[in-house]
Amino acid sequence: MAQFNTGIVGIFSVVLLFACLCLFIELKFTKFCIFCHSGNKNFLLLPDIDCKKNPPFLVILVTTEYWQLQARTAIRQSWGKERIIGDKRIVSFFLLGTLERQNKSAETRIISESLKYKDIIQKNFIDTYYNLTLKTLMGVDWVHHFCPQSSFVMKTDTDMFINTFYLTELLVRKNRTTNFFTGSIKSKDHPIRNKVSKWYISEIEYPGEWYPPFCSGTGYVFSTDVANQIYIISPSVPYFKLEDVYVGLCLDKLRIPLEELHSENTFFPSKVKFSICRFRKIVTCHHVQPSEILMYWNALQSSQDEECIGAGPAE
Ligand SMILES: *[C@@H]1O[C@H](CO)[C@@H](O)[C@H](O)[C@H]1NC(C)=O
Ligand SMILES: *[C@@H]1O[C@H](CO)[C@@H](O)[C@H](O)[C@H]1NC(C)=O
Ligand SMILES: *[C@@H]1O[C@H](CO)[C@@H](O)[C@H](O)[C@H]1NC(C)=O
Repeated sequence: MAQFNTGIVGIFSVVLLFACLCLFIELKFTKFCIFCHSGNKNFLLLPDIDCKKNPPFLVILVTTEYWQLQARTAIRQSWGKERIIGDKRIVSFFLLGTLERQNKSAETRIISESLKYKDIIQKNFIDTYYNLTLKTLMGVDWVHHFCPQSSFVMKTDTDMFINTFYLTELLVRKNRTTNFFTGSIKSKDHPIRNKVSKWYISEIEYPGEWYPPFCSGTGYVFSTDVANQIYIISPSVPYFKLEDVYVGLCLDKLRIPLEELHSENTFFPSKVKFSICRFRKIVTCHHVQPSEILMYWNALQSSQDEECIGAGPAE
C-alpha cells in the first residue's frame, strides 16, 4: 500500500513539474509579464499605430531634426502619407532626439506636432549628427517592440524623395520575407582620415583599412526580422558614429548579405534630375527641398496615365 502511494505521488510530482515547465515556457515565449506593464521603454513620444491589429507592409522611418518642420510637412503630404498600394499598407514615422539646449517653446511645439500627426518617435538623446546611430537604433528598438508584425522597414532622411509606389512594386516582385537588406550598396569603402572631413574617422575609432559592405544611410530597406536581429546584436557591436557603417558592422556580424532590389539602379544617394519617366523608376533621390518633394510627387501623381515611350532605365 505504501509502495503504491509513493508511486502515485511520484507520478503526480512529475505531472506537476511538467505543468509548471509548460507554464514557464508559455509565459516566456508570449512575453507575458505579471509584474511589469508594457511600458514606454524610455520613449518620450510614440506614434499612434497598432501593428498587431493591422500590420503595415512597410514602415518608413525618417530621421529628422526639430527645425525641419517644412520638410516634414511636405513628406506628410506626399510620399510619407499613409496609403494602401495594391493591398499593401505603407506608413511613415519621424525619428527625433532632444534639443541640445533646453528650449521650452520648441519642446511644446514638438509635443503639439506629435499630438496632431501622431507620427513622431522620440527618445532622450541629444539630436546631433554624430548621434545618428542612436537615432537609427531607436527606430530599430521601436520596430522590435511595437511593430514586429510589419513586413519591411525603410530608414531614410528628411531631404529625400521616395517613390513608395515603385518601392512597393519591387518589394512585392522580389518576394523576400527574411534576411533581406537592400539599398545603395557600398561594397568597398574606407574610413576617411582627413581631419577636416565631416566623415573623419580616427585610427582609434576604426583601425581597419576597410569598412564592411554597407548601404548608404540616405535610404535602405530591410525585412522586419533584420530589425529584430540588429536589436539583439547591437549591444555587442561597439558604438560607431557613422550610422550606415554601424548598421553594416551589425549585418557583418549577423552574416546578412546586402542584395540588390532590382537589376537596374534604383537607390540614388545623390541628386537625380527630375523627369516623370525617370522618377517612375527610382526608389530614392537625395538633396531635395521640401518644395521639390511636393512638386515631384504631384507631377508623378497627375501623370499616372501617361506612357513613357522609349524611356530607358533611370541613370
Ligand atoms: C527656441 O525655439 C524657438 C521656436 O522654434 C526659437 O524661435 C528660439 O530661437 C529658440 N530659442 C533658443 C534660445 O534657441
Ligand atoms: C549623444 O547623446 C547623448 C545622450 O543625450 C549625449 O550625452 C552625447 O553628448 C551626444 N553625443 C553627441 C556627439 O552629440
Ligand atoms: C514567393 O516565394 C515563395 C517561397 O518563399 C513561393 O512559394 C512563391 O511561389 C513565390 N511567389 C511568387 C509570386 O513568386
